[in-house]
Amino acid sequence: MVVSILPLNLANVAVEKSGKVILGPASWTLSSSGCTIVMGPNGAGKTTLLRLMHGLQKPTVGTVTWQTSFKTASDKQSFIFQTPVVMRRSVLENLIFPLRVRGIPKSAAIEEASIWLKAVGLESFEHKPASVLSGGEKQKLAVARALIIKPDVLFLDEPTTNLDGASTQAIENLIQTAISGGTRIVMATHDMGQARRLASEVVFLLRGEIHEFTDGELFFIEPKTPEAKSFLQGDILL
Ligand SMILES: Nc1ncnc2c1ncn2[C@@H]1O[C@H](COP(=O)(O)OP(=O)(O)OP(=O)(O)O)[C@@H](O)[C@H]1O
Ligand SMILES: [Mg+2]
Repeated sequence: MVVSILPLNLANVAVEKSGKVILGPASWTLSSSGCTIVMGPNGAGKTTLLRLMHGLQKPTVGTVTWQTSFKTASDKQSFIFQTPVVMRRSVLENLIFPLRVRGIPKSAAIEEASIWLKAVGLESFEHKPASVLSGGEKQKLAVARALIIKPDVLFLDEPTTNLDGASTQAIENLIQTAISGGTRIVMATHDMGQARRLASEVVFLLRGEIHEFTDGELFFIEPKTPEAKSFLQGDILL
């Protein structure tokens, strides 16, 4: 039987930097399915929360617990950064890397990679160094590299901020397909339209605290808190 790594439980977690609490204290459970959109003003703690869940940031206090061991959980999740990170290797080598480190034979990895190269429209770049790709193309590669392992959970930190409309649409479509395929999504975004289209639930962060946790549709129509309402109206929150 395949055991899911979810739900993920955050128990009384807080992150402190330079003597200041930048996240928490917070307790929250990431459920087994859907798309969680993390919203909130600049500096609210969105990136810190995603990094904490993915294991890139250790909590100063509290615990982050998956249903499986940390190693098993790590193998089944991917993270996409706002500024795509690519290795100084060919596009194909970038793409097969996560499969190879998980023990998939090279021929099978290349076969799978060719499907993803087509899915993100990068077939013609297969043997080019990933470093020559444009920002949008690099992000498409990052999405393909994240999804090629069929992750249980995919974290995305403002993945389309620097992209044009067409690239944003293409990446959103890939995220939608991943959701339909059962991948759990947690994404920080400042793009209201995108948040509305994708959210099954919204975590609204303010000054490092989970200020509101609401069903995706309701959040945009009837947020629970005056602060979330102000945020949605474009007001500056201090
Ligand atoms: N290493 C650090 N040392 C000190 N403060 C930090 C450190 N890393 C983050 N912070 C602070 O923690 C707060 C939360 O940062 P974080 O990057 O999580 O916010 P965010 O919600 O992702 O913001 P943005 O919308 O700008 O991406 C910010 O005030 C930031 O300055
Ligand atoms: Mg951020």
